[in-house]
Amino acid sequence: MAAEVILDVQELRAYYRILKGDVKALDGVSFQVRRGEILGIAGESGCGKSTLAHTLMLRKPPLRHIDGKAIFLGQDIMTMSKEAFRQRRLRDISIIPQYALDALSPTKKIRTFMSDIVREHGIPADKKFFERVEERLRFVNLSPDVLDRYPIELSGGMKQRIIMVISTILNPELVIADEITSALDVSSQRFAASLLVELRDQGIIGSAMFITHDLAILYQIADRLMIMYGGHIVEMGPIDEIVYRPRHPYTKALIDSLPRVGVQYEEQKLEGIKGTPPELLNIGPGCRFRFRCPYKTSKCEQTPITEHINPEHSIACWHYTEIGSESVG
Ligand SMILES: Nc1ncnc2c1ncn2[C@@H]1O[C@H](COP(=O)(O)OP(=O)(O)O)[C@@H](O)[C@H]1O
Ligand SMILES: [Mg+2]
Repeated sequence: MAAEVILDVQELRAYYRILKGDVKALDGVSFQVRRGEILGIAGESGCGKSTLAHTLMLRKPPLRHIDGKAIFLGQDIMTMSKEAFRQRRLRDISIIPQYALDALSPTKKIRTFMSDIVREHGIPADKKFFERVEERLRFVNLSPDVLDRYPIELSGGMKQRIIMVISTILNPELVIADEITSALDVSSQRFAASLLVELRDQGIIGSAMFITHDLAILYQIADRLMIMYGGHIVEMGPIDEIVYRPRHPYTKALIDSLPRVGVQYEEQKLEGIKGTPPELLNIGPGCRFRFRCPYKTSKCEQTPITEHINPEHSIACWHYTEIGSESVG
């Protein structure tokens, strides 16, 4: 039985229109999010992960929607009016943005912060609302006392859990979590990631897009994995298949740079990827990984077509059949 699709993104393009031209940070991406899944999204810094989240949720200048659709529960959110989308935010689709912890105003108690947010969305911050908040705080292992504290009195991990409570308070169908763990220490990272799984397992949220540059966390929680590079999707498939049988040269390089489980960190050689992701300002066609790719040929001057290796696993590389699927590391 095919899983129900709740978000269907088709050839989505969004550029930053700046004085010097277009930063093509999201350049024709197509994928689906299925009901109940955790879709991991990975790639180095500057590959367009946050731009994807912002295109779906927050689009602020200079970020402009150029082309393509994002059909969420039957409606294209790219053409929806601001007001119609405001009605759905928090209720149906919710984002936990990168740097969300900074959103907690130092001069406001948590209770005031939460009231302000839900009122912005037209929801009364009444007794019933706070009963629900308290129940959820307990669910994430926090005492309701935190409501009467200031952010400075709370640890990073506690603040992260508070942000997660508020983002999911109306049981959204889809949560987009952008680098929610990167500012935290290792145990808080694990806790925040497993909390998202728990929220999904309990039916509090439907599905999640979990964005991070940290593949090890995704391996613990994601059902499928999407790898982004230079504003494109280069590979996508079931988590085990991508981690153990990566096919795209970029995915292979990313996996190779991971510390191996069970191996002492100091003892192993980390195969870092040389170079950095490309500058996307006014970038032309072609595979965007070709500048760093050992398999590059003249064919790579053309943008690769996305092909399916099997119904679940897709890849955008002209040379994947030659590169094969030998295991790495
Ligand atoms: N406000 C902006 N104006 C111009 N370019 C931007 C802006 N924000 C991000 N970019 C560029 O867009 C590209 C993708 O960035 P981003 O989506 O933040 O990547 P990631 O989240 O994967 O690190 C980068 O090249 C970045 O420099
Ligand atoms: Mg980012």
